[in-house]
Amino acid sequence: MNMSTRMIGSLATAAVATAVLATAAIAGTDVQSALLAQWRVDAGQEFSAARGRALFERRANDWSCSSCHTADPRATGRHVVTEKSIRPLAPASNPRRFTDRTKVEKWFRRNCNDVLNRDCTALEKGDVLTYLVSLK
Ligand code: HEC
Repeated sequence: MNMSTRMIGSLATAAVATAVLATAAIAGTDVQSALLAQWRVDAGQEFSAARGRALFERRANDWSCSSCHTADPRATGRHVVTEKSIRPLAPASNPRRFTDRTKVEKWFRRNCNDVLNRDCTALEKGDVLTYLVSLK
């Protein structure tokens, strides 16, 4: 590959990346799609709502995700320690969910570590989000 071909290639990559970022900023649902697309690449496997649900309800460390978010993520949750109410996690009943990348990653990290003693994998995050958006 000569110098100019390489330059054109990287300019094209930069243009595509800019377009993706600009699109993601327009609407919240695009954040969801962007997260799923990124995790899909990292996981190298299709997501499963059934697996997401199983993870959501699996108890480890005395807790499961449903301990605070309830077994129906469309419902208002309740923090098991502070007893503070938690707005529903499923986008069907709370459209503001999964619209802020930083918030999503922060809480996945924190909650997976509380429940599983480790970060969730890209596959686990993709499964859980696929389960949550499947709830109507
Ligand atoms: C000890 C209580 C507790 C447990 C257990 C828990 N969460 Fe949460 N979760 C919270 C709180 C508190 C917030 C932040 C407050 C809010 O956003 O309403 C939150 C927020 C989130 C968010 C942010 C979503 C967004 O875009 O706003 C995700 C994702 C999430 N939790 C997933 C999980 C998963 C997956 C598990 C199981 C591995 C889990 N949570 C277990 C309390 C909990």
